[in-house]
Amino acid sequence: MSILSVRPATGRAGHLSSKFLFFVAATLLAVVANAAEVDAGTVPDTIKQRLTACTACHGEQGRATNDGYYPRIAGKPAGYLYNQLHNFREGRRRYPMMTYLVDHLSDAYLQEIAQYFADQHPPYPAPQPFDQSNATRERGETLVNKGDPAKKIPACIACHGGAMTGVMPATPGLLGLPRDYLVGQIGAWKNGARHGKAPDCMAQVVQRLSADDIGAVSAWLAAQPVPADAVAVAPTSVKLPLACGSVPN
Ligand code: HEC
Ligand code: HEC
Repeated sequence: MSILSVRPATGRAGHLSSKFLFFVAATLLAVVANAAEVDAGTVPDTIKQRLTACTACHGEQGRATNDGYYPRIAGKPAGYLYNQLHNFREGRRRYPMMTYLVDHLSDAYLQEIAQYFADQHPPYPAPQPFDQSNATRERGETLVNKGDPAKKIPACIACHGGAMTGVMPATPGLLGLPRDYLVGQIGAWKNGARHGKAPDCMAQVVQRLSADDIGAVSAWLAAQPVPADAVAVAPTSVKLPLACGSVPN
C-alpha cells in the first residue's frame, strides 16, 4: 500500500464535522501551500499571519481556549513544541487535524513554528478552584514534590523543574494547564494514545500512577498559580530519575 492511499485529500478530520473546522482546514491549506514555496529563514515577516490558522484552535497567541480541550502552546519550550509536531507526524500522538498539518511541513518550518509559539507569553488563566478532599490535596502535592518511593514514582519536579515551569530545551511546565487537559494527556499515556520518543519516561511514570493519583496530581497542579515570570529553567547536572528519549543528555 502506498502512503498516499491512506492520505486522502479530504476526510482526515471526518469526525470534526462543523463549519468552523472547514474554515480552519481551508486556512491550514494556505499555511501548507505557503510553507512549500517559502524558504525557511525568510518567513518571519509573515509567520504571525500564517499561524492565525493555529490560533483559531489554540487561542490568541496560542494561549488556549476556555474549554480546556485545545491546549496552550504559548511559552512552552521550543524543543518540546517541535517534538510534539514530530510526534503527530510519526503517530506517537493522534489528532487528525494536527497529523494532517505536519505531514506536509518541513522540519525547518516546524522548528520555526515551534520557536514562534515558544516566544509568545500571553497571560495565563487564573488557577482553577480546588474542590476535593484534603487527602486528595495532600496526595497530589506529595506526588508532584516528592513522588512515592514505595511505588517507584519519581517526583514530577525532578524533571519538570523545581518551580514546575519546565526545563530547557524540551520538558514542558505543569502550571497554567486546566485539570481536564492534564487528566486527558496523562490518561492518553496510560491508555497508549500518546507516546514520547523512546525511552518514553512519561509512559513509565504514568503506568505507576493509579486513576486516583492521576486525578489528585491534575487537580492539585491546576489549582496552583503560575508565577509572574514563568519560564523554563536551564537544566541542572543532576541526572533525571528515568531516561527520556525526548530530552537530550
Ligand atoms: C482544528 C483544531 C486545531 C488546529 C487548527 C491546530 N491544532 Fe494543534 N492541537 C489541537 C488539539 C485538539 C491538540 C491536542 C491533541 C491531543 O490531545 O493530543 C493539539 C495539539 C498541539 C500541540 C501539542 C501541544 C502540547 O502542549 O503538547 C502543538 C505543539 C500544536 N497543536 C501546534 C499547532 C500548530 C503550530 C498549529 C497551526 C500550524 C495547530 N496546532 C493547529 C487542535 C488544533
Ligand atoms: C523522568 C522525567 C519525568 C518525570 C519524573 C515526570 N515527567 Fe512529565 N514529562 C517529561 C517529559 C520529558 C515530557 C515531554 C514528553 C514528550 O515530549 O513526549 C513530559 C510531559 C508531561 C506532560 C504533558 C504536558 C503537555 O503540555 O501536554 C504532563 C501533563 C506531564 N508530563 C505530567 C507529569 C506529572 C504529573 C508527573 C509526576 C507524577 C511527571 N510528569 C513526571 C518528563 C517527566
